[in-house]
Amino acid sequence: MINYKEKIAKILSDNIEEMDETELLNMIEIPPNSNMGDFAFPCFSLANIFRKAPNMIAQELKEKIVIDDTIDRIGTSGGYLNFFIDRKTFASNVLNEVISKKEKFASSSIGEGKTICIDFSAPNVAKPFHVGHLRSTVIGNSIYKINEFLGYNCVGINHLGDWGTQFGKIIVAYYSWGNKEEIEKSPISSLLALYVKFHDEAEVNPELEDEARDWFVKMENGDVEALSLWKWFSAETIKELKKVYKRLGIEFDYYTGESFYNDKMGVVTEELTSKGLLTENKGALIVDLDDHDMPPCLVQKTDGSTLYATRDLAAAFYRKNTFDFYKSLYVTDYSQRLHFAQVFKVIELMGHSWAGDNIHVPFGRVTHEGKRIQTRKGTVVLLDDVLKGAVERVKEIIEEKNPNLESKESIAEDVGIGAVIFNDLSNSRIKDVSFSWDTAFKFDGETGPYVQYTHARACSVLRRADVQIDLDYNPELLIDDVTVEVLKEIYEFPNAIKDAQIKSEPSIVTRRIIDVAQAFNRFYNEHQIIVEDEEVKKARLAVVLATKQVLSTGLYLLGIKAPERM
Ligand code: ARG
Repeated sequence: MINYKEKIAKILSDNIEEMDETELLNMIEIPPNSNMGDFAFPCFSLANIFRKAPNMIAQELKEKIVIDDTIDRIGTSGGYLNFFIDRKTFASNVLNEVISKKEKFASSSIGEGKTICIDFSAPNVAKPFHVGHLRSTVIGNSIYKINEFLGYNCVGINHLGDWGTQFGKIIVAYYSWGNKEEIEKSPISSLLALYVKFHDEAEVNPELEDEARDWFVKMENGDVEALSLWKWFSAETIKELKKVYKRLGIEFDYYTGESFYNDKMGVVTEELTSKGLLTENKGALIVDLDDHDMPPCLVQKTDGSTLYATRDLAAAFYRKNTFDFYKSLYVTDYSQRLHFAQVFKVIELMGHSWAGDNIHVPFGRVTHEGKRIQTRKGTVVLLDDVLKGAVERVKEIIEEKNPNLESKESIAEDVGIGAVIFNDLSNSRIKDVSFSWDTAFKFDGETGPYVQYTHARACSVLRRADVQIDLDYNPELLIDDVTVEVLKEIYEFPNAIKDAQIKSEPSIVTRRIIDVAQAFNRFYNEHQIIVEDEEVKKARLAVVLATKQVLSTGLYLLGIKAPERM
Protein backbone atom coordinates (compact mmCIF):
# COMPACT_ATOMS: atom_id res chain seq x y z
CA MET A 1 0.00 0.00 0.00
CA ILE A 2 1.21 3.49 -0.70
CA ASN A 3 2.30 5.21 2.47
CA TYR A 4 0.82 8.66 1.92
CA LYS A 5 2.55 10.35 4.82
CA GLU A 6 5.93 9.12 3.64
CA LYS A 7 5.16 10.14 0.13
CA ILE A 8 4.20 13.66 1.18
CA ALA A 9 7.27 13.91 3.41
CA LYS A 10 9.40 13.02 0.40
CA ILE A 11 7.75 15.66 -1.78
CA LEU A 12 8.24 18.23 0.98
CA SER A 13 11.87 17.34 1.56
CA ASP A 14 12.58 17.79 -2.16
CA ASN A 15 11.42 21.36 -1.70
CA ILE A 16 12.60 22.18 1.82
CA GLU A 17 16.33 21.59 2.13
CA GLU A 18 16.53 22.92 5.66
CA MET A 19 14.72 19.98 7.26
CA ASP A 20 15.13 16.24 6.93
CA GLU A 21 12.49 13.82 5.82
CA THR A 22 11.67 12.26 9.19
CA GLU A 23 11.29 15.64 10.79
CA LEU A 24 8.87 16.63 8.04
CA LEU A 25 7.03 13.32 8.31
CA ASN A 26 6.37 13.87 12.00
CA MET A 27 4.88 17.28 11.27
CA ILE A 28 2.21 16.00 8.87
CA GLU A 29 -1.27 16.13 10.34
CA ILE A 30 -4.65 14.69 9.51
CA PRO A 31 -7.08 17.62 9.36
CA PRO A 32 -10.26 17.33 11.40
CA ASN A 33 -12.36 17.95 8.34
CA SER A 34 -11.76 16.61 4.85
CA ASN A 35 -12.47 19.87 3.04
CA MET A 36 -9.14 20.93 4.52
CA GLY A 37 -7.47 18.05 2.71
CA ASP A 38 -6.62 14.50 3.67
CA PHE A 39 -3.24 15.51 5.03
CA ALA A 40 -1.98 18.89 6.10
CA PHE A 41 1.45 20.37 6.61
CA PRO A 42 1.74 23.31 9.05
CA CYS A 43 4.26 25.93 7.93
CA PHE A 44 4.50 27.82 11.23
CA SER A 45 7.83 26.45 12.36
CA LEU A 46 9.33 27.33 8.97
CA ALA A 47 8.66 31.03 9.54
CA ASN A 48 11.95 31.50 11.37
CA ILE A 49 13.99 29.62 8.81
CA PHE A 50 12.57 31.43 5.79
CA ARG A 51 11.90 34.71 7.59
CA LYS A 52 8.47 34.89 6.03
CA ALA A 53 4.89 34.61 7.20
CA PRO A 54 3.58 31.01 7.33
CA ASN A 55 0.79 31.65 4.82
CA MET A 56 3.32 33.05 2.34
CA ILE A 57 5.47 29.96 2.77
CA ALA A 58 2.45 27.70 2.22
CA GLN A 59 1.57 29.61 -0.92
CA GLU A 60 5.10 29.41 -2.32
CA LEU A 61 5.43 25.72 -1.58
CA LYS A 62 2.12 25.07 -3.27
CA GLU A 63 3.39 26.68 -6.46
CA LYS A 64 6.75 24.91 -6.36
CA ILE A 65 5.63 21.38 -5.63
CA VAL A 66 5.14 18.96 -8.51
CA ILE A 67 2.64 16.20 -7.76
CA ASP A 68 2.11 12.76 -9.24
CA ASP A 69 -1.15 10.88 -9.76
CA THR A 70 -1.54 9.79 -6.14
CA ILE A 71 -2.23 13.38 -5.14
CA ASP A 72 -5.18 15.11 -6.73
CA ARG A 73 -4.31 18.67 -5.77
CA ILE A 74 -2.74 20.90 -3.16
CA GLY A 75 -4.46 23.82 -1.46
CA THR A 76 -3.61 26.27 1.28
CA SER A 77 -5.51 27.62 4.23
CA GLY A 78 -3.78 30.06 6.55
CA GLY A 79 -0.37 28.68 7.34
CA TYR A 80 -1.29 25.18 6.21
CA LEU A 81 -0.51 23.33 3.05
CA ASN A 82 -3.38 20.94 2.35
CA PHE A 83 -2.96 17.74 0.36
CA PHE A 84 -5.96 16.17 -1.32
CA ILE A 85 -5.25 12.59 -2.28
CA ASP A 86 -6.50 11.15 -5.53
CA ARG A 87 -9.53 9.19 -4.38
CA LYS A 88 -9.58 6.76 -7.24
CA THR A 89 -5.98 5.60 -6.74
CA PHE A 90 -6.59 5.58 -3.00
CA ALA A 91 -9.60 3.25 -3.35
CA SER A 92 -7.81 0.79 -5.59
CA ASN A 93 -4.74 0.94 -3.45
CA VAL A 94 -6.54 0.02 -0.25
CA LEU A 95 -8.98 -2.47 -1.73
CA ASN A 96 -6.48 -4.31 -3.92
CA GLU A 97 -4.28 -4.82 -0.92
CA VAL A 98 -7.07 -6.24 1.26
CA ILE A 99 -8.70 -8.32 -1.45
CA SER A 100 -5.45 -9.90 -2.59
CA LYS A 101 -3.97 -10.51 0.86
CA LYS A 102 -7.24 -11.66 2.48
CA GLU A 103 -6.67 -12.83 6.07
CA LYS A 104 -3.00 -11.91 5.71
CA PHE A 105 -3.88 -8.24 5.19
CA ALA A 106 -1.96 -6.14 7.76
CA SER A 107 0.23 -9.06 8.82
CA SER A 108 3.97 -8.84 8.48
CA SER A 109 7.23 -10.63 9.03
CA ILE A 110 9.05 -7.97 11.03
CA GLY A 111 9.19 -10.34 14.00
CA GLU A 112 10.75 -13.21 12.10
CA GLY A 113 13.45 -15.01 14.05
CA LYS A 114 12.54 -13.29 17.31
CA THR A 115 10.91 -14.99 20.27
CA ILE A 116 8.57 -13.26 22.68
CA CYS A 117 7.62 -14.96 25.94
CA ILE A 118 4.24 -13.93 27.29
CA ASP A 119 3.44 -14.81 30.89
CA PHE A 120 -0.29 -14.36 31.35
CA SER A 121 -3.43 -15.50 33.17
CA ALA A 122 -1.60 -17.27 36.03
CA PRO A 123 -4.41 -17.74 38.54
CA ASN A 124 -3.67 -19.31 41.89
CA VAL A 125 -4.67 -22.85 42.67
CA ALA A 126 -7.07 -23.06 45.60
CA LYS A 127 -7.73 -19.35 45.45
CA PRO A 128 -10.49 -17.70 43.43
CA PHE A 129 -10.22 -17.41 39.66
CA HIS A 130 -12.25 -14.25 39.44
CA VAL A 131 -13.01 -11.61 36.84
CA GLY A 132 -9.74 -9.92 37.82
CA HIS A 133 -7.82 -12.83 36.29
CA LEU A 134 -9.90 -12.46 33.19
CA ARG A 135 -8.00 -9.29 32.39
CA SER A 136 -4.58 -10.90 32.43
CA THR A 137 -5.98 -13.77 30.40
CA VAL A 138 -7.57 -11.75 27.62
CA ILE A 139 -4.91 -9.02 27.45
CA GLY A 140 -2.14 -11.62 27.35
CA ASN A 141 -3.94 -13.68 24.74
CA SER A 142 -4.48 -10.67 22.50
CA ILE A 143 -0.84 -9.58 22.84
CA TYR A 144 0.12 -13.12 21.87
CA LYS A 145 -2.06 -13.03 18.75
CA ILE A 146 -0.89 -9.56 17.71
CA ASN A 147 2.78 -10.49 18.01
CA GLU A 148 2.26 -13.73 16.15
CA PHE A 149 0.48 -11.84 13.36
CA LEU A 150 3.59 -9.69 12.96
CA GLY A 151 5.81 -12.70 12.62
CA TYR A 152 7.16 -13.08 16.15
CA ASN A 153 7.54 -16.54 17.58
CA CYS A 154 5.37 -16.47 20.70
CA VAL A 155 5.61 -18.61 23.81
CA GLY A 156 2.52 -18.42 26.03
CA ILE A 157 3.24 -19.37 29.62
CA ASN A 158 0.77 -19.93 32.43
CA HIS A 159 2.76 -19.26 35.60
CA LEU A 160 0.12 -20.78 37.87
CA GLY A 161 0.29 -20.01 41.55
CA ASP A 162 0.60 -23.68 42.40
CA TRP A 163 2.92 -23.47 45.38
CA GLY A 164 2.66 -21.57 48.61
CA THR A 165 1.22 -21.35 52.07
CA GLN A 166 -2.36 -21.51 50.80
CA PHE A 167 -1.85 -25.25 50.27
CA GLY A 168 -1.14 -25.73 53.96
CA LYS A 169 -4.45 -24.02 54.69
CA ILE A 170 -6.31 -26.11 52.18
CA ILE A 171 -4.89 -29.35 53.56
CA VAL A 172 -6.05 -28.41 57.08
CA ALA A 173 -9.45 -27.37 55.78
CA TYR A 174 -9.79 -30.48 53.64
CA TYR A 175 -9.11 -32.79 56.55
CA SER A 176 -11.54 -30.89 58.77
CA TRP A 177 -14.44 -30.09 56.46
CA GLY A 178 -13.59 -31.37 52.97
CA ASN A 179 -15.19 -33.90 50.73
CA LYS A 180 -13.51 -35.75 47.87
CA GLU A 181 -16.50 -35.96 45.53
CA GLU A 182 -17.21 -32.28 45.83
CA ILE A 183 -13.67 -31.34 44.90
CA GLU A 184 -13.77 -33.65 41.92
CA LYS A 185 -17.10 -32.24 40.83
CA SER A 186 -16.21 -28.56 40.99
CA PRO A 187 -12.64 -28.13 42.16
CA ILE A 188 -12.27 -24.36 41.82
CA SER A 189 -15.34 -23.42 43.81
CA SER A 190 -15.02 -26.13 46.46
CA LEU A 191 -11.35 -25.37 47.09
CA LEU A 192 -12.29 -21.72 47.32
CA ALA A 193 -15.05 -22.57 49.81
CA LEU A 194 -12.48 -24.43 51.93
CA TYR A 195 -10.12 -21.48 51.67
CA VAL A 196 -12.81 -19.06 52.83
CA LYS A 197 -13.93 -21.42 55.60
CA PHE A 198 -10.33 -21.72 56.80
CA HIS A 199 -10.04 -17.95 57.17
CA ASP A 200 -13.33 -17.67 59.01
CA GLU A 201 -12.39 -20.44 61.42
CA ALA A 202 -8.81 -19.21 61.90
CA GLU A 203 -10.15 -15.93 63.18
CA VAL A 204 -11.58 -17.64 66.25
CA ASN A 205 -9.07 -20.47 66.32
CA PRO A 206 -5.59 -19.08 65.46
CA GLU A 207 -3.79 -22.43 66.01
CA LEU A 208 -5.13 -23.42 62.61
CA GLU A 209 -2.59 -21.03 61.09
CA ASP A 210 0.24 -22.96 62.77
CA GLU A 211 -1.13 -26.26 61.54
CA ALA A 212 -1.30 -24.84 58.03
CA ARG A 213 2.29 -23.61 58.21
CA ASP A 214 3.40 -27.05 59.35
CA TRP A 215 1.74 -28.68 56.38
CA PHE A 216 3.42 -26.30 54.01
CA VAL A 217 6.80 -27.00 55.58
CA LYS A 218 6.07 -30.70 55.07
CA MET A 219 5.36 -29.99 51.43
CA GLU A 220 8.62 -28.14 51.02
CA ASN A 221 10.44 -31.05 52.66
CA GLY A 222 8.99 -33.57 50.26
CA ASP A 223 6.47 -35.23 52.57
CA VAL A 224 4.60 -37.84 50.53
CA GLU A 225 1.14 -37.29 52.02
CA ALA A 226 1.32 -33.50 51.73
CA LEU A 227 2.64 -33.68 48.18
CA SER A 228 0.05 -36.13 46.97
CA LEU A 229 -2.74 -33.89 48.25
CA TRP A 230 -1.09 -30.88 46.65
CA LYS A 231 -0.76 -32.72 43.35
CA TRP A 232 -4.38 -33.72 43.42
CA PHE A 233 -5.68 -30.21 44.24
CA SER A 234 -3.57 -28.79 41.42
CA ALA A 235 -4.49 -31.40 38.86
CA GLU A 236 -8.22 -31.02 39.54
CA THR A 237 -7.94 -27.25 39.32
CA ILE A 238 -6.00 -27.32 36.06
CA LYS A 239 -8.61 -29.67 34.58
CA GLU A 240 -11.33 -27.17 35.34
CA LEU A 241 -9.24 -24.17 34.27
CA LYS A 242 -8.66 -25.78 30.92
CA LYS A 243 -12.42 -25.94 30.42
CA VAL A 244 -12.70 -22.20 31.03
CA TYR A 245 -9.77 -21.50 28.70
CA LYS A 246 -11.36 -23.68 26.07
CA ARG A 247 -14.55 -21.67 26.32
CA LEU A 248 -12.52 -18.51 25.91
CA GLY A 249 -10.65 -20.04 22.98
CA ILE A 250 -7.30 -19.68 24.70
CA GLU A 251 -4.36 -22.04 24.70
CA PHE A 252 -1.01 -21.98 26.44
CA ASP A 253 2.23 -23.40 25.19
CA TYR A 254 3.34 -24.19 28.73
CA TYR A 255 1.68 -24.73 32.08
CA THR A 256 4.77 -24.18 34.15
CA GLY A 257 3.55 -22.89 37.49
CA GLU A 258 5.56 -21.69 40.44
CA SER A 259 6.25 -25.25 41.62
CA PHE A 260 8.10 -25.92 38.36
CA TYR A 261 10.92 -23.77 39.72
CA ASN A 262 11.34 -25.63 43.00
CA ASP A 263 14.59 -27.19 41.80
CA LYS A 264 15.70 -24.21 39.71
CA MET A 265 16.22 -21.59 42.38
CA GLY A 266 19.42 -23.01 43.84
CA VAL A 267 21.62 -21.92 40.95
CA VAL A 268 20.23 -18.42 41.10
CA THR A 269 20.96 -18.07 44.82
CA GLU A 270 24.44 -19.46 44.20
CA GLU A 271 25.11 -16.90 41.49
CA LEU A 272 23.79 -14.15 43.74
CA THR A 273 26.11 -15.32 46.50
CA SER A 274 29.16 -15.63 44.27
CA LYS A 275 28.55 -12.13 42.93
CA GLY A 276 28.35 -10.79 46.45
CA LEU A 277 24.80 -9.53 46.05
CA LEU A 278 23.15 -11.33 48.96
CA THR A 279 23.08 -9.84 52.41
CA GLU A 280 21.79 -11.42 55.56
CA ASN A 281 19.11 -9.57 57.39
CA LYS A 282 17.74 -11.08 60.62
CA GLY A 283 18.34 -14.54 59.23
CA ALA A 284 16.72 -13.80 55.88
CA LEU A 285 18.60 -13.33 52.62
CA ILE A 286 17.99 -10.16 50.65
CA VAL A 287 19.38 -8.17 47.75
CA ASP A 288 19.77 -4.61 48.90
CA LEU A 289 18.23 -2.16 46.45
CA ASP A 290 18.66 0.99 48.49
CA ASP A 291 20.83 2.58 45.81
CA HIS A 292 18.00 2.10 43.37
CA ASP A 293 15.30 3.59 45.55
CA MET A 294 13.53 0.32 46.13
CA PRO A 295 12.95 -1.82 49.19
CA PRO A 296 15.15 -4.94 49.31
CA CYS A 297 14.28 -7.98 47.22
CA LEU A 298 13.66 -10.85 49.64
CA VAL A 299 15.16 -14.07 48.29
CA GLN A 300 14.98 -16.42 51.27
CA LYS A 301 12.90 -16.25 54.43
CA THR A 302 14.30 -16.84 57.91
CA ASP A 303 13.01 -20.42 57.88
CA GLY A 304 14.89 -21.09 54.65
CA SER A 305 11.83 -21.07 52.41
CA THR A 306 11.80 -19.27 49.08
CA LEU A 307 9.43 -16.61 47.84
CA TYR A 308 7.41 -15.40 44.90
CA ALA A 309 10.40 -13.24 43.83
CA THR A 310 12.83 -16.16 44.06
CA ARG A 311 10.59 -18.13 41.72
CA ASP A 312 10.38 -15.23 39.31
CA LEU A 313 14.15 -14.89 39.23
CA ALA A 314 14.44 -18.61 38.47
CA ALA A 315 11.69 -18.31 35.85
CA ALA A 316 13.44 -15.42 34.08
CA PHE A 317 16.71 -17.37 33.82
CA TYR A 318 14.93 -20.53 32.75
CA ARG A 319 13.11 -18.65 29.99
CA LYS A 320 16.24 -16.92 28.76
CA ASN A 321 18.15 -20.19 28.66
CA THR A 322 15.34 -22.20 27.12
CA PHE A 323 13.81 -19.79 24.60
CA ASP A 324 16.55 -17.19 24.13
CA PHE A 325 13.81 -14.58 24.04
CA TYR A 326 13.99 -11.21 22.38
CA LYS A 327 11.47 -9.87 24.89
CA SER A 328 9.80 -11.49 27.87
CA LEU A 329 6.48 -10.00 28.98
CA TYR A 330 4.61 -10.38 32.26
CA VAL A 331 0.95 -9.43 32.23
CA THR A 332 -0.37 -8.68 35.72
CA ASP A 333 -2.26 -5.90 37.46
CA TYR A 334 -0.34 -2.78 38.44
CA SER A 335 -0.10 -3.76 42.11
CA GLN A 336 2.85 -5.97 41.09
CA ARG A 337 4.86 -3.12 39.60
CA LEU A 338 7.37 -2.98 42.42
CA HIS A 339 7.79 -6.74 42.46
CA PHE A 340 8.81 -6.86 38.81
CA ALA A 341 10.95 -3.74 39.04
CA GLN A 342 12.88 -5.46 41.85
CA VAL A 343 13.26 -8.76 40.03
CA PHE A 344 14.47 -7.08 36.83
CA LYS A 345 16.87 -4.86 38.79
CA VAL A 346 18.39 -7.89 40.53
CA ILE A 347 19.03 -9.52 37.13
CA GLU A 348 20.66 -6.30 35.97
CA LEU A 349 22.86 -6.17 39.07
CA MET A 350 23.91 -9.74 38.33
CA GLY A 351 25.36 -8.30 35.14
CA HIS A 352 23.06 -9.83 32.54
CA SER A 353 22.59 -7.64 29.50
CA TRP A 354 19.15 -9.12 28.80
CA ALA A 355 17.72 -7.74 32.06
CA GLY A 356 16.17 -4.90 30.10
CA ASP A 357 14.34 -7.30 27.78
CA ASN A 358 12.01 -8.28 30.62
CA ILE A 359 8.93 -6.12 30.54
CA HIS A 360 6.09 -5.83 32.98
CA VAL A 361 2.80 -5.13 31.20
CA PRO A 362 0.58 -3.77 33.96
CA PHE A 363 -3.17 -3.30 33.83
CA GLY A 364 -5.86 -1.70 35.97
CA ARG A 365 -8.16 -3.38 38.45
CA VAL A 366 -11.64 -4.65 37.74
CA THR A 367 -14.59 -3.41 39.64
CA HIS A 368 -17.96 -5.01 39.36
CA GLU A 369 -20.97 -2.73 39.18
CA GLY A 370 -18.72 -0.12 40.80
CA LYS A 371 -17.51 -2.30 43.71
CA ARG A 372 -14.02 -3.64 44.08
CA ILE A 373 -13.71 -7.39 43.75
CA GLN A 374 -12.85 -9.09 47.02
CA THR A 375 -10.72 -12.20 46.93
CA ARG A 376 -10.66 -13.61 50.37
CA LYS A 377 -14.19 -13.19 51.54
CA GLY A 378 -17.50 -11.84 50.48
CA THR A 379 -18.43 -10.81 46.98
CA VAL A 380 -16.36 -12.86 44.60
CA VAL A 381 -17.60 -12.83 41.07
CA LEU A 382 -16.34 -16.03 39.55
CA LEU A 383 -15.23 -15.91 35.98
CA ASP A 384 -17.29 -18.90 35.07
CA ASP A 385 -20.45 -17.21 36.34
CA VAL A 386 -19.67 -14.14 34.30
CA LEU A 387 -19.34 -16.21 31.16
CA LYS A 388 -22.50 -18.18 31.89
CA GLY A 389 -24.40 -15.00 32.68
CA ALA A 390 -23.17 -13.33 29.51
CA VAL A 391 -24.25 -16.19 27.31
CA GLU A 392 -27.66 -16.38 29.02
CA ARG A 393 -28.20 -12.72 28.41
CA VAL A 394 -27.37 -13.00 24.72
CA LYS A 395 -29.76 -15.95 24.42
CA GLU A 396 -32.55 -13.77 25.79
CA ILE A 397 -31.73 -11.04 23.28
CA ILE A 398 -31.72 -13.52 20.41
CA GLU A 399 -35.09 -14.96 21.52
CA GLU A 400 -36.48 -11.46 21.47
CA LYS A 401 -34.96 -10.18 18.23
CA ASN A 402 -34.26 -13.14 16.01
CA PRO A 403 -35.92 -16.29 17.40
CA ASN A 404 -35.57 -18.26 14.15
CA LEU A 405 -31.81 -17.88 13.96
CA GLU A 406 -30.04 -21.14 13.15
CA SER A 407 -27.46 -22.51 15.62
CA LYS A 408 -28.61 -20.10 18.32
CA GLU A 409 -26.62 -21.86 21.02
CA SER A 410 -23.22 -21.49 19.48
CA ILE A 411 -23.88 -17.92 18.34
CA ALA A 412 -24.97 -16.97 21.85
CA GLU A 413 -21.74 -18.48 23.16
CA ASP A 414 -19.58 -16.53 20.68
CA VAL A 415 -21.39 -13.26 21.25
CA GLY A 416 -21.69 -13.53 25.03
CA ILE A 417 -18.04 -14.35 25.50
CA GLY A 418 -17.02 -11.86 22.83
CA ALA A 419 -18.89 -9.14 24.71
CA VAL A 420 -17.01 -9.87 27.93
CA ILE A 421 -13.62 -9.90 26.20
CA PHE A 422 -14.32 -6.80 24.14
CA ASN A 423 -15.50 -4.88 27.20
CA ASP A 424 -12.26 -5.75 28.90
CA LEU A 425 -10.13 -4.65 25.95
CA SER A 426 -12.02 -1.44 25.22
CA ASN A 427 -9.97 0.99 27.26
CA SER A 428 -6.24 1.36 27.55
CA ARG A 429 -5.15 -1.46 29.79
CA ILE A 430 -3.86 0.67 32.62
CA LYS A 431 -7.32 2.07 33.34
CA ASP A 432 -9.49 0.39 35.92
CA VAL A 433 -12.36 -1.47 34.30
CA SER A 434 -15.85 -1.38 35.56
CA PHE A 435 -17.78 -4.43 34.59
CA SER A 436 -21.49 -3.94 34.28
CA TRP A 437 -24.04 -6.34 32.92
CA ASP A 438 -25.96 -3.53 31.29
CA THR A 439 -23.23 -1.93 29.25
CA ALA A 440 -21.29 -4.98 28.09
CA PHE A 441 -24.11 -6.45 25.99
CA LYS A 442 -25.42 -3.55 24.00
CA PHE A 443 -25.76 -4.24 20.31
CA ASP A 444 -25.30 -0.57 19.61
CA GLY A 445 -22.57 1.64 20.97
CA GLU A 446 -18.99 0.63 21.27
CA THR A 447 -19.31 -3.02 22.18
CA GLY A 448 -18.24 -6.44 20.98
CA PRO A 449 -21.74 -7.41 19.83
CA TYR A 450 -21.87 -4.22 17.75
CA VAL A 451 -18.68 -5.10 15.89
CA GLN A 452 -19.70 -8.75 15.53
CA TYR A 453 -23.11 -7.67 14.28
CA THR A 454 -21.54 -5.36 11.71
CA HIS A 455 -19.33 -8.21 10.56
CA ALA A 456 -22.35 -10.52 10.26
CA ARG A 457 -24.17 -7.81 8.33
CA ALA A 458 -21.29 -7.60 5.83
CA CYS A 459 -21.32 -11.40 5.52
CA SER A 460 -25.03 -11.38 4.88
CA VAL A 461 -24.72 -8.79 2.09
CA LEU A 462 -22.00 -10.86 0.45
CA ARG A 463 -24.13 -14.01 0.74
CA ARG A 464 -27.14 -12.33 -0.82
CA ALA A 465 -25.10 -10.80 -3.64
CA ASP A 466 -23.54 -14.14 -4.43
CA VAL A 467 -20.92 -12.83 -6.85
CA GLN A 468 -17.22 -13.51 -6.83
CA ILE A 469 -15.36 -10.33 -5.97
CA ASP A 470 -11.92 -9.87 -7.39
CA LEU A 471 -9.81 -6.98 -8.53
CA ASP A 472 -11.95 -6.02 -11.53
CA TYR A 473 -14.12 -3.36 -9.90
CA ASN A 474 -14.16 0.27 -10.92
CA PRO A 475 -12.51 2.46 -8.24
CA GLU A 476 -13.92 5.60 -9.85
CA LEU A 477 -17.25 4.66 -8.31
CA LEU A 478 -15.78 4.80 -4.83
CA ILE A 479 -14.86 8.44 -4.39
CA ASP A 480 -17.78 9.88 -2.42
CA ASP A 481 -17.18 11.06 1.14
CA VAL A 482 -18.92 8.22 3.01
CA THR A 483 -17.08 5.56 1.04
CA VAL A 484 -13.73 7.30 1.38
CA GLU A 485 -14.28 7.40 5.15
CA VAL A 486 -14.58 3.60 5.28
CA LEU A 487 -11.47 3.20 3.14
CA LYS A 488 -9.51 5.58 5.33
CA GLU A 489 -10.40 3.61 8.43
CA ILE A 490 -9.29 0.41 6.71
CA TYR A 491 -6.12 2.08 5.50
CA GLU A 492 -5.12 2.82 9.10
CA PHE A 493 -5.65 -0.79 10.24
CA PRO A 494 -2.08 -2.07 9.62
CA ASN A 495 -0.62 0.92 11.49
CA ALA A 496 -2.92 0.25 14.42
CA ILE A 497 -1.67 -3.31 14.71
CA LYS A 498 1.96 -2.25 14.60
CA ASP A 499 1.27 0.36 17.24
CA ALA A 500 -0.62 -2.15 19.40
CA GLN A 501 2.37 -4.51 19.22
CA ILE A 502 4.89 -1.84 20.18
CA LYS A 503 2.81 -0.67 23.12
CA SER A 504 1.40 -4.08 24.11
CA GLU A 505 -1.96 -2.37 23.90
CA PRO A 506 -4.87 -4.38 22.44
CA SER A 507 -7.26 -1.46 22.96
CA ILE A 508 -5.69 0.19 19.90
CA VAL A 509 -7.10 -2.67 17.83
CA THR A 510 -10.45 -2.46 19.62
CA ARG A 511 -10.67 1.27 18.89
CA ARG A 512 -9.76 0.77 15.23
CA ILE A 513 -12.39 -1.86 14.52
CA ILE A 514 -15.06 0.22 16.21
CA ASP A 515 -14.14 3.06 13.86
CA VAL A 516 -14.21 0.72 10.87
CA ALA A 517 -17.61 -0.66 11.93
CA GLN A 518 -19.09 2.80 12.47
CA ALA A 519 -17.83 4.10 9.12
CA PHE A 520 -19.14 0.98 7.42
CA ASN A 521 -22.60 1.36 8.96
CA ARG A 522 -22.80 4.94 7.70
CA PHE A 523 -21.84 3.66 4.24
CA TYR A 524 -24.41 0.88 4.51
CA ASN A 525 -27.18 3.32 5.46
CA GLU A 526 -26.28 5.75 2.72
CA HIS A 527 -25.75 3.36 -0.18
CA GLN A 528 -27.79 0.52 -1.42
CA ILE A 529 -25.31 -2.20 -2.24
CA ILE A 530 -27.18 -4.82 -4.19
CA VAL A 531 -28.34 -2.61 -7.07
CA GLU A 532 -29.28 -3.22 -10.71
CA ASP A 533 -26.17 -1.56 -12.08
CA GLU A 534 -23.62 -4.39 -12.06
CA GLU A 535 -20.63 -2.07 -12.05
CA VAL A 536 -21.84 -0.07 -9.05
CA LYS A 537 -22.79 -3.25 -7.25
CA LYS A 538 -19.37 -4.80 -7.77
CA ALA A 539 -17.52 -1.72 -6.57
CA ARG A 540 -19.61 -1.44 -3.43
CA LEU A 541 -19.27 -5.13 -2.72
CA ALA A 542 -15.51 -4.71 -2.82
CA VAL A 543 -15.86 -2.26 0.08
CA VAL A 544 -18.10 -4.72 1.94
CA LEU A 545 -15.63 -7.54 1.44
CA ALA A 546 -12.69 -5.46 2.65
CA THR A 547 -14.66 -4.36 5.72
CA LYS A 548 -15.61 -7.91 6.54
CA GLN A 549 -11.97 -8.97 6.28
CA VAL A 550 -10.71 -6.20 8.55
CA LEU A 551 -13.40 -6.79 11.18
CA SER A 552 -12.78 -10.50 11.26
CA THR A 553 -8.99 -10.06 11.51
CA GLY A 554 -9.44 -7.42 14.21
CA LEU A 555 -11.74 -9.65 16.25
CA TYR A 556 -9.37 -12.56 15.79
CA LEU A 557 -6.48 -10.49 17.16
CA LEU A 558 -8.56 -9.67 20.23
CA GLY A 559 -9.35 -13.35 20.73
CA ILE A 560 -13.02 -12.95 19.75
CA LYS A 561 -15.02 -15.11 17.36
CA ALA A 562 -16.65 -13.54 14.33
CA PRO A 563 -19.88 -15.45 13.58
CA GLU A 564 -21.16 -15.07 10.03
CA ARG A 565 -24.79 -14.88 11.09
CA MET A 566 -26.39 -13.17 14.03
N1 ARG B 1 -0.31 -15.81 40.32
C1 ARG B 1 -0.06 -14.41 40.31
C2 ARG B 1 -1.31 -13.63 40.78
O1 ARG B 1 -2.41 -14.14 40.74
C3 ARG B 1 0.34 -13.88 38.94
C4 ARG B 1 1.62 -14.45 38.38
C5 ARG B 1 2.21 -13.60 37.31
N2 ARG B 1 3.39 -14.11 36.73
C6 ARG B 1 4.58 -14.13 37.33
N3 ARG B 1 5.60 -14.66 36.67
N4 ARG B 1 4.79 -13.63 38.51
O2 ARG B 1 -1.17 -12.52 41.21
